[in-house]
Amino acid sequence: MPVGVAPNIHHVGDVDSTMEVARAMLVDAKGAPFAVLAESQSKGRGTGGRVWTSPKGNLYFTLCIPETSIRAEIVPVLPLITGLACREAIMSIVSGTNFYVKWPNDIVHSGKKLGGSIVESEGGYLLVGIGINVEVAPPVTDNGRDPTTVNYAAETLGQPKITTLQLAEAVWKQYFKIILDTTASRKAVVENFEAAMDKSLILHRRTPTGRDPEPLRAVRLNEWGHLTVLKSDGTEETLVAEYLF
Ligand code: BTN
Repeated sequence: MPVGVAPNIHHVGDVDSTMEVARAMLVDAKGAPFAVLAESQSKGRGTGGRVWTSPKGNLYFTLCIPETSIRAEIVPVLPLITGLACREAIMSIVSGTNFYVKWPNDIVHSGKKLGGSIVESEGGYLLVGIGINVEVAPPVTDNGRDPTTVNYAAETLGQPKITTLQLAEAVWKQYFKIILDTTASRKAVVENFEAAMDKSLILHRRTPTGRDPEPLRAVRLNEWGHLTVLKSDGTEETLVAEYLF
């Protein structure tokens, strides 16, 4: 088991976006990993430029990792690694089997969305932005998947509520556990993600105006982590860079 990296998490209050706060902190970071944990965000960003509604009570976390600390082989599957690390983090605090990942970067519970992530690159760092609903499920305005929260899941499993700090520390730990594990090849990451996917979900492509009505089902991942889906006419298609509701 590789040695972990001690959490280096900067706590901030209400910010525009933890991505921008992290960018501003890069210059002083001197090549060390760090993270920003905010109480709330006024300009939270989701995938594809969507708004990520960010009231107090949820996790708004940007993990900043020097590009040199991530093996080139696993860089193409970083969104999958992020999903896996978040799922492992939640399950390390709330024990229950029904937390899953949804390709390419979401966490779901009982078919509802718990959170997601974005990855950006700046000044030799990868900025991994993670949003997870801990206490509040902000309403969905764009026909996306219904939201739920970790604490609702914990309650239904008869377990105590968790805090955003607990979750941030657990995400840090799980992230470094995966990226520092030299046996975590790209193939292993893809296999682990596929095993953690909820293949029973009905998926829809996200379009610029909402959701495509055609129902899709996840079938398998290829060696690059691209998703093959089963379409309603019985044919298959492999998706590379799309977002799904
Ligand atoms: C998604 O659309 O599913 C991804 C959402 C990612 C939101 C997080 S919250 C922390 C970080 N700061 C942002 O502005 N966005 C990411």
